[in-house]
Amino acid sequence: MTGSKKLWGGRFTDEPDAAFARFNQSFGFDRRLFHADTKASLAHCEALRRAGVLGDEEARCIAEGLCLIAIRAAEGGAAYFDELNEAEDVHSFIETRLIEIVGEAGRRLHTGRSRNDQVATAMRLWVRDVIDDLKQEIRVVQTNLLESAEANFDAMLPGYTHLQRAQPVLWAHWCLAYFEMLARDVERFADTRRRANVLPLGSAALAGTSYAIDREQVARELGFDEVTRNSLDAVSDRDFCVDFTHAASLVMVHLSRMSEDIILYASAEFGFIELSDRVSTGSSLMPQKKNPDAMELVRGKAGRVFGHNLSLLVTMKGLPLAYNKDMQEDKEAVFDAFDTVRACLQTTATVINNIALREDAMRVAASRGYLNATELADYLVGRGMPFRTAHDITGRIVRHALERAVELNDLSFDELKSFSALIEPDVHHALTLENTLATKAQTGGTAPARVREALTAARARLGE
Ligand code: ARG
Repeated sequence: MTGSKKLWGGRFTDEPDAAFARFNQSFGFDRRLFHADTKASLAHCEALRRAGVLGDEEARCIAEGLCLIAIRAAEGGAAYFDELNEAEDVHSFIETRLIEIVGEAGRRLHTGRSRNDQVATAMRLWVRDVIDDLKQEIRVVQTNLLESAEANFDAMLPGYTHLQRAQPVLWAHWCLAYFEMLARDVERFADTRRRANVLPLGSAALAGTSYAIDREQVARELGFDEVTRNSLDAVSDRDFCVDFTHAASLVMVHLSRMSEDIILYASAEFGFIELSDRVSTGSSLMPQKKNPDAMELVRGKAGRVFGHNLSLLVTMKGLPLAYNKDMQEDKEAVFDAFDTVRACLQTTATVINNIALREDAMRVAASRGYLNATELADYLVGRGMPFRTAHDITGRIVRHALERAVELNDLSFDELKSFSALIEPDVHHALTLENTLATKAQTGGTAPARVREALTAARARLGE
């Protein structure tokens, strides 16, 4: 009898140590590959039939068995998986179930395949599918940013460098900055998907398969663009997992920076925005507190995703060709990176819809602290002065205004004129907030006309 409970029991006489068996198990987490692995098994079954390894009747029997397992899993949910929770991994779970259901025919499915090419295939299918999910979630955040930009088109705030007030910008411009970062994330995921979408099945354990499996046909059936070209590489390549956690890490960098801006803007010190009660929490001790926990958690969870990216790199770096069990560690890193980035995208999308702007406070902040000083220098340049000279003279005017504790617009024409004969009565118009914004009129600038165009273009890009 070859009926060991394990898929590989034949050459063993002793049972594994119980604690080691648990240590070796991945079924607790790799059950998430169930659908991907079932799908790939169906394609492999069909390939074996075409290769003449399986008779039509056997192949039909196996395919029906696999479909029945999928139905039972869908109906039974977690309970179905728990029934056989001593399974080593999802692959042995499915195969054991198949043999239970269809008997002898089930024992032929693993012909010409190894769990090594099997798991690489299932992971690629899984990563491919969740990338499609994430692209959708990113689009929701982008859409909400555009909505906030459109609904608050007149709002402006100080733009910062070194966290010091620099020049005024539109709130819509701020929104579009994050829109751009997320647009790059979508592209990065698309690129990751393209490289992941290559079929390893048919590489078997490491050397390739001896059966006449038409790999190109299997690839077409499973929606892969190509087949892997080297079996040693195919079973030991987890670049696509690193690509995935890297792309996820950059999403988290972007969400974390957005969180940081929102946390600062919601503080009394800035006072630019208020987060609604729906996305805030209180303090157990201080009755007055309203805390931006949602954004703090997004900022905090970034570290966790970067950790997964690094842990994969470290896991892979010393592995000899080809497959090594170390690689089983890829799953939890990739799964948790996905769960975390998806939850953070969803939370961020909700927060954006729950921001109320304090437009007056934002405007006041954008008008105090000489954010129009560059505009004054540009005004002098417009009248023929070299920029370096204009910078110096404007610096002196700022110093004078600081001494008087007033803004540049509060200086009289005569006061201003005393610094340069080039200054004309139109200088006060030049120094207005509106003019300061309107002059940033080249592509990518914060002039309202440009930002309107950028919003329209962004809408169109989302529609693509
Ligand atoms: N659970 C294993 C993994 O995730 C599947 C591959 C096992 N292959 C092997 N030769 N032991 O990597």
